[in-house]
Amino acid sequence: MRIYLDHNATTPLREEVADAMGAALRECWGNPSSTHAEGAAARRALEAARGEVAALLGAAPAEIVFTAGATEANNAAIRGVLAARPRGRHVVATAVEHPSVAEALRALEGEGVCVTWAPVDADGLVDLEALTAALRDDTALVCAILANNETGAIQDVAKIAEAAHTRGAWLHVDATQAVGKLPVDAVALGADLLACSAHKLNGPKGTGALLVRGHATIAPLLLGGAQERRRRGGTENVAGAVGFGAACRLARAELPERGVRMQALRDRLWQGIERAIPDVRWNGAPRTTLPNTLNVELAGAAGEVLLEALDGEGVAVSAGAACHSGSIEPSAVLLAMGRSPAQARASLRFSVGCTTREDEIDAVLALLPRLVARVRASGA
Ligand SMILES: Cc1ncc(COP(=O)(O)O)c(C=O)c1O
Repeated sequence: MRIYLDHNATTPLREEVADAMGAALRECWGNPSSTHAEGAAARRALEAARGEVAALLGAAPAEIVFTAGATEANNAAIRGVLAARPRGRHVVATAVEHPSVAEALRALEGEGVCVTWAPVDADGLVDLEALTAALRDDTALVCAILANNETGAIQDVAKIAEAAHTRGAWLHVDATQAVGKLPVDAVALGADLLACSAHKLNGPKGTGALLVRGHATIAPLLLGGAQERRRRGGTENVAGAVGFGAACRLARAELPERGVRMQALRDRLWQGIERAIPDVRWNGAPRTTLPNTLNVELAGAAGEVLLEALDGEGVAVSAGAACHSGSIEPSAVLLAMGRSPAQARASLRFSVGCTTREDEIDAVLALLPRLVARVRASGA
């Protein structure tokens, strides 16, 4: 029996989602842009799904643009705003954005866009004063990740929105990790655009959404069709959208209790680790962290070695370091929080989900102290 504690990477498909997708694949195979009965059936399914996604995000259905995931949604938001808004070519972003935002912005820097990165503190929370000071008259866009994928740190996005709007900039929020774990209301957050992804909330991979508020306009990233109100060309992934809609319906029915349950499991894990393993540190502040995420530094134990040892014992987690072409890179997020490369390398991310059980947490706690001691003793 495997124990899966890597729900920030992806989540298992819920049965209800698989059933809805199966039915859509079999029965709604028409092209939603066709005007005949087959097309109309696909259109109805697509629009019902759009309504579910919009309802979870506190948006109007017309504000939802289906995409092939959050990477596309983030790229489409950034490039789409810069191409459509004559205001200027300056962007402010937090120093802990997901690569789908950070790399999109770095590529734009090579095309003459100026980006200012707002620093974060030791808990991964953005320095609001520095962010506000970075805003300029030509700032077109501010990018803020709502909840960080590695640490779970939750930014005060409403405050960031206030600062951005005061200077006339729009705010794009990457809410990919928050949606399905926390109630997310785009209007209350002050987001002008917001990205999310179905596979982080027990939906299918390769399906996501970009929420574009009514007043905001974007130039499409994908050209070649008038779909999605001319905001994204290409025949829609109807079954994917239906699965996303089903996942959003489940989240709406289960929140906020889902978060309470996940938090109890996550806290049980942390308390067990703190009790049984010396020299550990939570990377972040519990009060401002997603209810499901625990990023922990286990001093002197290489995260990727521990990850492998846990995997061998049937437990899936994630390391605070990524392997790029054979070399181990310490997490840029942990470095931005002031950790040393050695501290970042000694970090592990546990992320529970709505399918995680208490006995699984206890099973992990029963083997982790021995594995950590072994990895520490090996000097890895
Ligand atoms: C915060 C965040 N943004 C964006 C993405 C990209 O999402 P997708 O896998 O749908 O492209 C992820 C996925 O890891 C994420 O965690």
